[in-house]
Amino acid sequence: MKLVAAILSGAVALGLSASALAQSPIVVKFSHVVAESTPKGQGALKFKEVAEKLLPGKVEVQVFPSSQLFGDGKEMEALLLGDVHFIAPSLSKFDRYTKKIQVFDLPFLFQDLAAVDSFQQSADGKALLDAMKNRNLQGLAYWHNGMKQLSTNKDQLTRPEHVKGLKFRIQASDVLEAQFRALDANPQKMAFAEVYQALQTGVVDGQENTWSNIHSQKFHEVQKTIANTNHGIIDYMVVTNAKWWDGLPADVRDGLKKAMDEATTHANKLAAELNERDRKRIEEAGKAKIQPLTKDDLAAWQKAMAPVWKKFEGGIGADLIQAALKHNK
Ligand code: LMR
Repeated sequence: MKLVAAILSGAVALGLSASALAQSPIVVKFSHVVAESTPKGQGALKFKEVAEKLLPGKVEVQVFPSSQLFGDGKEMEALLLGDVHFIAPSLSKFDRYTKKIQVFDLPFLFQDLAAVDSFQQSADGKALLDAMKNRNLQGLAYWHNGMKQLSTNKDQLTRPEHVKGLKFRIQASDVLEAQFRALDANPQKMAFAEVYQALQTGVVDGQENTWSNIHSQKFHEVQKTIANTNHGIIDYMVVTNAKWWDGLPADVRDGLKKAMDEATTHANKLAAELNERDRKRIEEAGKAKIQPLTKDDLAAWQKAMAPVWKKFEGGIGADLIQAALKHNK
C-alpha cells in the first residue's frame, strides 16, 4: 500500500495523472479516399471493430475516409513517413513501386471479379503483396471493389469513336494513360477527391470507375451517359509501412493480422452487392443514362484498347500476363 502511495505521489509530483500511468493504446491510423458506403469504406470500419475487440486497450484504430486525412498522392508518402499506418490504394496507383502490378490495369484482361479474386489468391498474386518490401511497403491483403464503367458528358457512348478527342480523368497509372491514348482521347491524371468538380466544370469530359464510386461521388449527376463496359477493374491492396509493422509487439501484429483477415472477408463479400445496389440507384436517379453494349460494341472497345498490352508486356512480364489470363473461366 505504502509503495503504491509513494509511486502515485511521485507520479503526481512529475505531473502525471493516474490514467496516464496505465499503458496507453497504440494509435493506428487507417486513411482512404472513398466514402464509407463503399466496399473499401466498409472494410476499414470492420477492421477497426475487430482489431479493437481482439486487442482491447492495446490499440485504438482511427479511420479517416473520403481523403479527410490524406488524398491520393499524399497517402503513400504519409505511410512511408509513419504519419498513417494503413492505406488501401487502388492497384492502379502502385506503378512507381513495381511494374508487375500493372497487370491489373490491362484492359479487358479479367472477365469478372471471380477471375480477379482467383488470380490474387494464387502464388503469383500473393507474391505481389511482397513485391514492394524493398521500398518499405508491405502488402497485407487485396480488397475488391468492382469492374470499371466509362462515363462522359455526351449522349453517344457505344463505340470507341465516340470518345475521340474527349478529356478523361484517370488515376495515376501509365497503363490507363496509354489506354485512353489508344482511344485517341486525352487522359489527365487527377486525385480522386477532385474528380466531381472537374466533371462538373467541364475540366474533363469523362472518367472511368465502379458503380459504387460513381454513385457515392455523385458522378452520375454530372455525366450524361455511363457505358456498361466492364473494361477493367478497381481493386485495392491494403499496405502498411514494413518497418513499423515488423517493429510491433508480436501479439499486436497477430491481432491486427487477424482483424485484417476478417475485414478482407467482409469487404470482399460485400463488394459485388454494393456495386449492384449502386448501379440500381444510379438507374433510379434517372440522371445519367446507363448505356448497355452489344457483343459487337464490346469487341470494338476491346480491339481499340488491345495495343496497350504489348506496350507494357516487357515491364509486367509475359509470364505473369499469361498466368493472370488462366483465371478466366
Ligand atoms: C479512383 O481514384 O478513382 C479510385 O482509385 C478511388 C478508390 O480508391 O476507389
